This record gives sequence, structure tokens and C-alpha cells, in this order.
Amino acid sequence: MSKYKELDETDFLYFINLLGEKYVLADQVSKDKYNHDETEDLKYNPTVVLKPENTAQVAEILAYANQNNIPVTPQGARTGLSGGALPIFGGVALSMERFDKIIKIDTENGQVTVEPGVITQVLQEKVADEGLFYPPDPASKGTCFIGGNLSENSGGPKAVKYGVTNEYVLNLEVVLPTGEIIWTGANVLKNATGYNLTQLIVGSEGTLGVITKAVLKLIPLPLKNMLLLIPFNSAEKACEAVAAIFQAGIVPSGMEFMERDALIWTKNFINDDSIQIPDNVRAHLLIEVDGNYEDILMQDCEKIMAIVESFGAGEVLFADSAAQKDKLWNLRRKVGEAVKSQSVYKEEDTVVPRFQLPKLLKGVKEIGVKYGFHSVCYGHAGDGNLHINIIKGDLTDNEWNEELPKAIREIFELTVGLGGTISGEHGIGLVQKNYMDIAFGEIELNLMRGIKKLFDPNNILNPGKIFQ
Ligand code: LAC
Ligand code: ZN
Repeated sequence: MSKYKELDETDFLYFINLLGEKYVLADQVSKDKYNHDETEDLKYNPTVVLKPENTAQVAEILAYANQNNIPVTPQGARTGLSGGALPIFGGVALSMERFDKIIKIDTENGQVTVEPGVITQVLQEKVADEGLFYPPDPASKGTCFIGGNLSENSGGPKAVKYGVTNEYVLNLEVVLPTGEIIWTGANVLKNATGYNLTQLIVGSEGTLGVITKAVLKLIPLPLKNMLLLIPFNSAEKACEAVAAIFQAGIVPSGMEFMERDALIWTKNFINDDSIQIPDNVRAHLLIEVDGNYEDILMQDCEKIMAIVESFGAGEVLFADSAAQKDKLWNLRRKVGEAVKSQSVYKEEDTVVPRFQLPKLLKGVKEIGVKYGFHSVCYGHAGDGNLHINIIKGDLTDNEWNEELPKAIREIFELTVGLGGTISGEHGIGLVQKNYMDIAFGEIELNLMRGIKKLFDPNNILNPGKIFQ
């Protein structure tokens, strides 16, 4: 039995009075929509979906939930891959979709103030009109929300040169689980004032507070880029080439790895026949360089080509039009969806120092042989961030539910043993929380539990996530 209160008529009347009937949804169609994110095939019905439109309403909802012992799960666009937005105890699904305004683009200071329900790509396009750049670009950038990116500290292909979401966050307006409203920092590029509450909230997966506004840093938009698709007849060799490129002094703006099945499954999924993949090709690197001067980028590309050749690369495809670049990036971005369309799967988000990537890949495949599963691996090789999609295929339910967790534990132990950790950019959420003991000892976990308790003494905000 849940320790939380079941919502009754008084609660519904309270929420309807606060938000209006239209924004308090308890019908099955709404529940079906808000009971899942993109994590595996998991579904948990909320009792009610609430759609506030301003900070004061969020504060009222949380204060009420805190007084009445009602669990609240914040939700953005529900594109997450670790189950952070799943209302596992029912209660309130707090959808932030009406917080969809770009409040102010400050071109003089290179900053933007946004609400959390703005779609990441919409923000990127709006600031690009001003010659400005907001780099973090998760694969789901066309649908995911800034608020979700902040909560999960999302990455994406550009992170290798520009860093992940947290590097662009200056200041946040946050509603605490008690209903109090705070700003975490200041709208400045340097800040040595007290503990860094901003960075504590970023990546806290909606467990410490609900973000209602964000002030983000922008940089000048690079004017040019070049994109190369490079085939290898050994996946490990492809991974080895990655570190060598950085060692040669080049920092690409994208450095993606896709093993053979990742690209083939995606080509089939989106009916893209523009690239031929010979039988001997085991993996590809997709490498982008960007900047303002074409001749310098060309020199970088030549250097990259010489390096990959020494790792046995095949014929390099040099994308020579914007349309071809879009096609290649689309192929890369659709890998996750393509795999999902084939089979139930689990996605692990391992990350190691980039030089260790070949060892990680080799070890993952060995664990696959030992436990009898097929995996499709791809990801942000420049960051050492390997997405391991484990395919259910014809594994029995028993193998999937009882045996596979042991294999995942081995994968994570290998990852941590190589100096890495168990999530690079998808978060821990619900589905990785049982493995947190691999990444942290009791001392660190107790510090986290203490922070959670301080922010959320009654454990009403996104309970059951990360380490609880
Ligand atoms: C990607 C997502 C799954 O890189 O992180 O495609
Ligand atoms: Zn990714």
C-alpha cells in the first residue's frame, strides 16, 4: 500500500478552483498520454494531470501537496530515457507544457530567459535569428523541453565541443516542494557566492524543486561546418581513432559512433537509401567540425582523414550540401527510435574517459555473449559516452527480468572500473537507481539523501527516483 494519500473530491475541487476545469484532467485518454515517457515500455497512471501556467500556481500546488501528502511528478515533454517523469506512486502528474514562453533574449549580454516548456530546437532557432547559439542538442531536440534538459543535464552531439546543459545555466527560478519560491543564482558569467544551488538543481531530475524559469548563457553562432561519415571494418578501431583525433589537437563539434546495426536499422526505419554500407563495414564515425573560416575547417578535415586512414578507415563521405548534412544527422538522431521500433529494449548510457572506449565496447560485447543478448551500440564517442541498446529479441521474460539485471550490473561495473560512470546524459530516474551503489558508496548516497530531505522533508516531489 502506498504511504501517500489517495486524491478525493476535496482535492479535485481545490485543483479545479486553482487552475480551471480544463487543466485538471482525470480521464483515461489523458492518463494514457501522461503515464509514460520514452523509457522502455513502462507505464504508471497518475490520478490526475495538472497543467499550471504560472509560478504562483505551481507554488500553490506544491504547498497543497506537501500539506496533504500527495506525490507530485513534474513532467516536461516526456521524452526522457530513464523514467524520471513516470508518476510511479500515482498522484499528480505536473505537466509544465503551458510554460512555453521565451521571455527575453538579451543580445547585449548573450543571455536568454525562458520558461521550462519551451522546445529546445525552438529556442535554438529563435536565438540563431540573433546570431546566437544555444548548443545543447539532445537527439529529441525537436520535441524535448528545456525544463527536461535542465532536470536531466542533457547532452547530445555538440557536447563534445560545447559542453552539456549545465554549462549554459546561470540562474533558475525554482518552486521548492514546500511551495516556497527561490532564485538559485544571478544572471552573471562568474559566481563565487555561496554554495552553487543552480548546479545542484541542474540534473536533480525533478526531485528537489520544479524549475519555472531559467536564465541561460548564449554564445556566438559559428558560421560554417563540415561533416564527414567514415566507415571502419572494425568497431574497436573506430573507437581508437576517436582519442587520436583529439590528441592531434582537433576538437570536433560532433564525434558520433554508430555500429553497423545502428545505421542499418535506422536506414530501414526511415527508408533512407542514400548511403550504401558494404558487408565489411562494422561501424561508422560521424565527425563534424565548425567555426568561422572554411580554410581552417578544411585543414582540420584533412588532418582527420589522415588519422582515420591510419586506423583502417574506408572511403570517407564528405557531405557537400546542407541537405546531405541534414540527412546524415537525421540518421544519427533516429537511431534510438529505430531500435525501439524493432523490439522491447533497455538503453544503458555508459560513459568512460574517451581513451577507454574501445575496452568498454569490447567488454560489452563479451558480456552480451556470456548472457546471450544482442546489443546495438552508438553514441557520443568524443565524450566516451556509449549508448548500449540491449535488445529483448527472443529472450524469455525470465531471462529479461531476472538474468539481464546481472548482465547490466556487469556492464556498469566494467564502466566504473574503466574510470567511468553509469549515466552520461540520460539520468538515473527510475530504471538505473538499483545500480547507484556501483557508482557511489554509502557516504555519498547518504549526502544525497540528506539533501533530498532538506529540500523535500515529506518526500512528495518525484519520489522513488535516483536513489530512493
Ligand atoms: C541519442 C540519445 C538516445 O544520443 O541520447 O540518440
Ligand atoms: Zn545521446
